[in-house]
Amino acid sequence: MSRLVVVSNRIADPRKTAAGGLAVALAEVLNNTGGLWFGWSGKIVDAAEDDDVLFQRAGPVTLAMVDLSQVDHDAFYLGYSNGVLWPVFHYRLDLADFDAGYIGGYRRVNQLFARKLLPLLRPDDVIWVHDYHLIPLAAELRALGCKQRIGFFLHIPLPPPLMLAAIPGHDWLIRALFAYDLVGFQSKADLHHFAGYIEAEAHAQPVDEGRWRAFGRTVQAGAFPIGIDVQEFTALANAPEAVEMYERMRREYSRRRLLVGVDRLDYSKGLPQRMRAFREFLTKNPDLRSSATLIQIASPSRENVNAYTEILHELESLCGSINGNFGELDWMPVRYIHRTVARARLPGLYRASRVALVTPLRDGMNLVAKEFLTAQNADDPGVLVLSRFAGAAEQLGEALLVNPYDTEGTAAAILLALQMPVEERRTRHEALMQTVRRYDVHWWCDSFLAALERTQAEEKGTSWL
Ligand code: ADP
Ligand code: F6P
Repeated sequence: MSRLVVVSNRIADPRKTAAGGLAVALAEVLNNTGGLWFGWSGKIVDAAEDDDVLFQRAGPVTLAMVDLSQVDHDAFYLGYSNGVLWPVFHYRLDLADFDAGYIGGYRRVNQLFARKLLPLLRPDDVIWVHDYHLIPLAAELRALGCKQRIGFFLHIPLPPPLMLAAIPGHDWLIRALFAYDLVGFQSKADLHHFAGYIEAEAHAQPVDEGRWRAFGRTVQAGAFPIGIDVQEFTALANAPEAVEMYERMRREYSRRRLLVGVDRLDYSKGLPQRMRAFREFLTKNPDLRSSATLIQIASPSRENVNAYTEILHELESLCGSINGNFGELDWMPVRYIHRTVARARLPGLYRASRVALVTPLRDGMNLVAKEFLTAQNADDPGVLVLSRFAGAAEQLGEALLVNPYDTEGTAAAILLALQMPVEERRTRHEALMQTVRRYDVHWWCDSFLAALERTQAEEKGTSWL
């Protein structure tokens, strides 16, 4: 059997807690398949160019890590990946910083990854590259003679063609995707945007189902919505730490209904909009005021990127003013916690909550929605309020779908969720869980790798960049 080689910028010891859908999903996949996980060590050093790869054994997985120099980290990670690609791919052209200097760092780090990874590869390895940090990696590997099958999965959304076209050098970026054998997206909408872009900008011709020819090459592309490890998460929900958390929350909030939000503190997650909707709910429903509490856990993320500092201040100020205006001596409507919660305790928190607010302005998928559903007691389940702009909404139509920009509409959905009779909660939960179970993380991994295996081998050549 071929060895699986996973490559991503962020890597994590599969035995430890991580915040971020990519690290959580890949840790679960690799724990099962074993293999090599190659990525950034998380360390910034003076000059990384000739540093050795650092190896670490983590159960069945070998982690192979490279350091980044300060200059490369700033241009590659803060600059191009999170200052250009992240905002544009989340439809936020207004937040993009198209500094021409960043692209050099992005290319240098992709070249560094290719150079350090190549000697570690075996002829029959299957290589799976993840996310927007590493779009040109296959092109860089091919330029060095790599012949193995390489797949790519984009964890974040792909925006409509004209929005993509706002990125200087966008054609170079999308052309680089054709060095892969298979490109996977989270949703049908993302796949549709990809097809629209290559047809409009590169005169691509559909060759076959999900296969296009452009730039003198062909590529296979498809939608592979990511899931969670339902069995593992259910076991986590029944383990002592989660049960203890559940009981503690139930004791503490015995007279109240809990609403919960768990996110990285990111402007794509719609946290200020969520707070405004909750404030609207409190304003419109004075009789329900002291019976509902929103717990918002927001883990620190990318704090060196300006837009993230701004969102932090906005959120803190909104939570402060809601508590100031609506709080009582014995009740605060919002509990805002700016930290990562231990993964073992999360299911307990989800289970103790009557409502989950998963209301991103734009999200590739959103795994919190699936985790919340999985942690529920099927006899008395909570209600998922889900943004129609999360990739998950394509699959989870039985949730209460909202437009997070519509403050009144979201506030009305909160009321509906809190008052939903148990029969309706059960019916919706059952239908949602069928999807969550069927399209779990193993389905995602197996279906992507099977599709990669089926791709028609094409001589990709070395002239890419
Ligand atoms: P993203 O990949 O954009 O962060 P997802 O919802 O897809 O969003 O994945 C987030 C993952 O990280 C989930 O598994 C979630 O449980 C975890 N996570 C997010 N925020 C926190 C937090 N504050 N504490 C603990 N885990 C978190
Ligand atoms: O899942 C989306 C994602 O952007 C991953 O690519 C990333 O690892 C995660 O969120 C957390 O972000 P970061 O790696 O920048 O901390």
